[in-house]
Amino acid sequence: MRRMQPVVVQHPLAQCHLTAIRAVSTPSHEFRRHLNHLARMLFLEATRELPVHEISVQTPITQTHGAQLARPLVCVPILRAGLGLLDGILPLVPEAIVAHVGIKRNEETALPQPYYANLPANLGAADVFLLDPMLATGGSACEAARQLKEAGALRIVMICVVSCPEGLAAMARAHPDVAIVTAAIDDGLNEHCYIVPGLGDAGDRYFGT
Ligand code: PRP
Ligand code: URA
Repeated sequence: MRRMQPVVVQHPLAQCHLTAIRAVSTPSHEFRRHLNHLARMLFLEATRELPVHEISVQTPITQTHGAQLARPLVCVPILRAGLGLLDGILPLVPEAIVAHVGIKRNEETALPQPYYANLPANLGAADVFLLDPMLATGGSACEAARQLKEAGALRIVMICVVSCPEGLAAMARAHPDVAIVTAAIDDGLNEHCYIVPGLGDAGDRYFGT
């Protein structure tokens, strides 16, 4: 299967929020605020093509046509840092189901270590949004996508704030059918497998740890 090109959201407001969360001087409470705004903007792009049913709606004036999402929507944050994206997105889709995948990178090997999963039964019928601010080696995202597919997911879009060529290539090899929406494709990884220029450790910065 040919890889879909990642979508990079270049909207000026998205890029301003990204700049704020990159800055080392941005404290956690501001990091959260900017990440929440940026997550919402990425989610709007990621949901652009969602199918809707036409429904009828009665306004105070008359009857007219409206839209309703055709399929259930499932958001899957990769714990922990993915929760930062979820906080921004949920107010837009309060009816979404939230599933969880817990994966922690081994600090020495950078390999993903899955430690938790709670996935609903109806994944195959849903549009699934995999949430993680960082796509570095791609190990965590590949493992999460593998778990989602094993649980029946057929349509997965990954939303990540900062990606890099290594992570995108890993996803393209393992999951060419997973679309990716991001705010940046950075230069690459350093010797500790951190994204350069990146934003540091997303989970620590979001949670203030
Ligand atoms: C970070 C990040 C991704 C992963 C990306 O999580 O949120 O999940 O690393 O790296 P990768 O593409 O090389 O796998 P981390 O493992 O630090 O866990 P945390 O969210 O609990 O801090
Ligand atoms: N995880 C992060 O939080 N940041 C990186 O740059 C790489 C992995």
